[in-house]
Amino acid sequence: MSDSPGTAVLAEGLRKSYRGSAALDGLDLDVPAGAVCGLLGPNGAGKTTTVRILSTLLRADAGRALVAGHDVARDPAGVRRSIGLVGQHAAVDEQLSGRQNLEMFARLSHLGAAARRADELLARFGLADTGRKPAGRYSGGMRRRLDLAAGLILRPKVLFLDEPTTGLDPGARNEMWDAVRDLVAGGTTVLLTTQYLEEADRLADMICVIDHGRVIARGTPEELKSRLGGDRIDVVVRERRDLAAVTEILAKVGLAEPRAEPAVRRVSVPVEERVAALGDLTRALRERDIAAEDIAVRRPTLDEVFLTLTGGRS
Ligand SMILES: Nc1ncnc2c1ncn2[C@@H]1O[C@H](COP(=O)(O)OP(=O)(O)O)[C@@H](O)[C@H]1O
Ligand SMILES: [Mg+2]
Repeated sequence: MSDSPGTAVLAEGLRKSYRGSAALDGLDLDVPAGAVCGLLGPNGAGKTTTVRILSTLLRADAGRALVAGHDVARDPAGVRRSIGLVGQHAAVDEQLSGRQNLEMFARLSHLGAAARRADELLARFGLADTGRKPAGRYSGGMRRRLDLAAGLILRPKVLFLDEPTTGLDPGARNEMWDAVRDLVAGGTTVLLTTQYLEEADRLADMICVIDHGRVIARGTPEELKSRLGGDRIDVVVRERRDLAAVTEILAKVGLAEPRAEPAVRRVSVPVEERVAALGDLTRALRERDIAAEDIAVRRPTLDEVFLTLTGGRS
């Protein structure tokens, strides 16, 4: 395992079982310094377990991990000095205001100039004018931004964000995404977990898709889409009654089961070679006298890649 200074997080063969049942089953990770790595996976895939091991809250049964050059098992204090963690349930005191919370975190961390650091972070995340309002009365979006600010008190080299936008409305989610992008511009390495494909697509430089405690695919969002998805053909029929026949045709032309969306009269299928598939498709439509309103060849969405990889569970 290499521990070059260019690597912020390195994990090899991490295993963890809870009462005999494997949550992590040989998980490998390699996140370059300064990158945003999206750990994408369905509920129960092992995302939180991975973050807890990497942030020294939990010991792995086997495997090794280095965070900012420190071994999580041999030098947990070194790891803790280098990281920020924003968990699914952050440790914000609901009675205190945002400023009071941040000042408290700063003091607990023996950080000098706690008030100045608190002000800086409040301004950065649009919380400067929240005054003395207790955090318990913040909106969901404000609350998550406060969590993020708390995770940044110590200017960590590596920031772990466990499902940073779960439960947020689209507006608050966008604000959170902007906040994370700002961070990265400042050089912080981010490992974020998410169940949202769109989130990984928007934020991550690299994505590791995990399922059943192991990485089942990795790459940039674009690489994953092209390597695993291939091209897709969408057919929109004029008459809804033709959907079944088109589904049957696409089942022969495509690589996998076609997906029908009756509401929009569309059937979609991944194909191996788009020109040949398009030829077969138009011939079959003509033979059966089916009128298509539209035929499109396109790249798959990350959603479709994910569905393919996890066998339809999400
Ligand atoms: N404290 C625990 N005790 C027993 N099983 C657990 C515990 N934490 C997680 N698990 C199990 O380990 C697996 C992975 O969980 P987790 O890492 O929380 O997944 P994710 O964060 O991707 O949803 C799941 O099957 C979950 O039920
Ligand atoms: Mg989780």
